[in-house]
Amino acid sequence: MKNEYIPYPAEIVSIRKETYDVKTYKLRFSDPKLAESFSYKQGQFVQVSVLGTGEAPISITSSPTRKGFLELTMRATGRITNAIYGMHTGDTVFIRGPYGNSFPFKELKGRDIAFVAGGIGLAPVRSLINFIFDNRHLFGHITILYGAKTPKDICFKDEIKQWAGIRDTSVYVTVDRADETWRENIGVVTSLYPKAGLKGDNSTAVLCGPPVMIKFAARELLNYGFVSDNIIVTLERYMKCGIGKCGHCNIGGLYVCTDGPVFTWKQVGEFPEIENVF
Ligand SMILES: Cc1cc2nc3c(=O)[nH]c(=O)nc-3n(C[C@H](O)[C@H](O)[C@H](O)COP(=O)(O)OP(=O)(O)OC[C@H]3O[C@@H](n4cnc5c(N)ncnc54)[C@H](O)[C@@H]3O)c2cc1C
Ligand code: FES
Repeated sequence: MKNEYIPYPAEIVSIRKETYDVKTYKLRFSDPKLAESFSYKQGQFVQVSVLGTGEAPISITSSPTRKGFLELTMRATGRITNAIYGMHTGDTVFIRGPYGNSFPFKELKGRDIAFVAGGIGLAPVRSLINFIFDNRHLFGHITILYGAKTPKDICFKDEIKQWAGIRDTSVYVTVDRADETWRENIGVVTSLYPKAGLKGDNSTAVLCGPPVMIKFAARELLNYGFVSDNIIVTLERYMKCGIGKCGHCNIGGLYVCTDGPVFTWKQVGEFPEIENVF
């Protein structure tokens, strides 16, 4: 029987520096059969480990439409992410998964989609964004609203420019604090809503970012006609097993690792401990 806790070695094929503390790692499983067969859905995460250090849940940022590798974007915040931050091309990390539910495909198909992301929160939704662009005819207008603390904190800079050039797509970026180079919007991500002309009819919003951003960004969307069923958020909780066994990620009787990390705003509103989430 397959042991769910055994991770598999994956080689770092390339590394891209996003900001001063965030890097994107392109990984390929060392076992060629696994590299070929590994599949996942947009919105899922993996447990990444470094031998002798521990493991952490990290969202898959690549799109499942782009096969043979997976990409993870990590901010160096603690033991594992710092250990990986110091690694080089050719080094090995260990991966188990994929875990969690995913962004719903049927519910999004045919609709306009507004992405609202903050900081490194663009990483999980990037998987869905590129999935959509690889299946462009199946979706309506795409709006991407992205906020970062400063211009130096913006991830995926080149890709954001490419997305802005794709047909039927609008991209707006804002920063909390500008520097002398910044020519775009200044303010929190919700300050982009009026500029983007958001409308709830035939639209679904997909949110990912720091909890405080999610709270205000989701509540404000209700004022633009979005219903809570059509606001999708991804949540983070401290995790251990990642597979619904240990109870660490329990919230509102659900496990973020297996029932989430993708929830509707309606579901989140029903969590009894909602104030602990944000
Ligand atoms: C589903 C999911 C997806 C995620 N995706 C990403 C991603 O794509 N990229 C990314 O960079 N991060 C992501 N994270 C967050 C990441 O898993 C955590 O930041 C993780 O703690 C990093 O591991 P670490 O060993 O590097 O840091 P740690 O050593 O765990 O420390 C990180 C920070 O958390 C604090 N901390 C650790 N454990 C606890 C605890 N039990 N209670 C309170 N504070 C604690 C530490 O003091 C420190 O400030 C995701 C988390 C989840 C649940
Ligand atoms: S992390 Fe163990 S139950 Fe979710």
